[in-house]
Amino acid sequence: MLKPMNQMVAEAIAAGHAVPAFTCYDFTTALAMVAEAEAQQRAVILNVAPKTAGSASGLRLITALRALGEQASIPVAVQLDHASDEQLIVRAVRAGATAVLADGSAGTLEANIAFVQQVRSLVGPDIVMEAELGALPGNEDKAFEQMASQLTDPAQVAGFLAGSGADLLAVAIGNVHGRYKGEPKIHWEVLEAIQAASTVPLVLHGASGIAPADLSRTIAYGVGKVNLNTELRTAVLSTLSGQLEPRREDGQNMLGLLGDWERAATEVAAATFTALVAK
Ligand code: 13P
Repeated sequence: MLKPMNQMVAEAIAAGHAVPAFTCYDFTTALAMVAEAEAQQRAVILNVAPKTAGSASGLRLITALRALGEQASIPVAVQLDHASDEQLIVRAVRAGATAVLADGSAGTLEANIAFVQQVRSLVGPDIVMEAELGALPGNEDKAFEQMASQLTDPAQVAGFLAGSGADLLAVAIGNVHGRYKGEPKIHWEVLEAIQAASTVPLVLHGASGIAPADLSRTIAYGVGKVNLNTELRTAVLSTLSGQLEPRREDGQNMLGLLGDWERAATEVAAATFTALVAK
């Protein structure tokens, strides 16, 4: 079933969980994410990156993910991730996205607030709005090594939330998109100060490479949504590169290859669901 993302995240936090948001470039990965969420009886978020949404068939993928969510036995949300293009946001919502990350984090605080307000006026009250404060380095679709840069300033949080009306807040606390240069270092004191100032659930991006114990620990600090991409596509790509030739020799066994793909994705999903439980 579809469920508003903020509601599912609030329910997860109350139950001692965080909801994983998995980036889906394709339907096979999404099938695996929903099947594993059903097996574990947990909510799940299917994220679509803006480059995917803006590609030739991206909006149809969003529509297909929404249909998958409607049929699922557990709560599902379909989110357009990191969107800064107003036209794309409107199109993605028309195609079926139930949530948007209105990402004005590259601009000033005032511009960021104004952007989130503008997106709200475009999509209406029913679309769940995530916003981001601070800068998250890295490329969303390509895993190059990154170092954390501009952390979220806790002093800006209350004003940003009051001004923007965001339903969830993505934070920069030492996290990056892609691979970490060296060991990831979560700034717990910054996260604690953000939590104290925040009226909404927090979102941790860049979960790939962060130790499961640290992911679990973030829940006590108000994190209720955790975005993961690099680990998922790394697992799928390495499985496919090992299975392409055997499946070709096995009578061009496409179903077999898709099964390998689903299994690789499922393993990552299962480990993520396990990590996203408060200890
Ligand atoms: P990773 O690719 O580092 O897991 O980050 C995913 C993400 O935050 C998507 O918004």
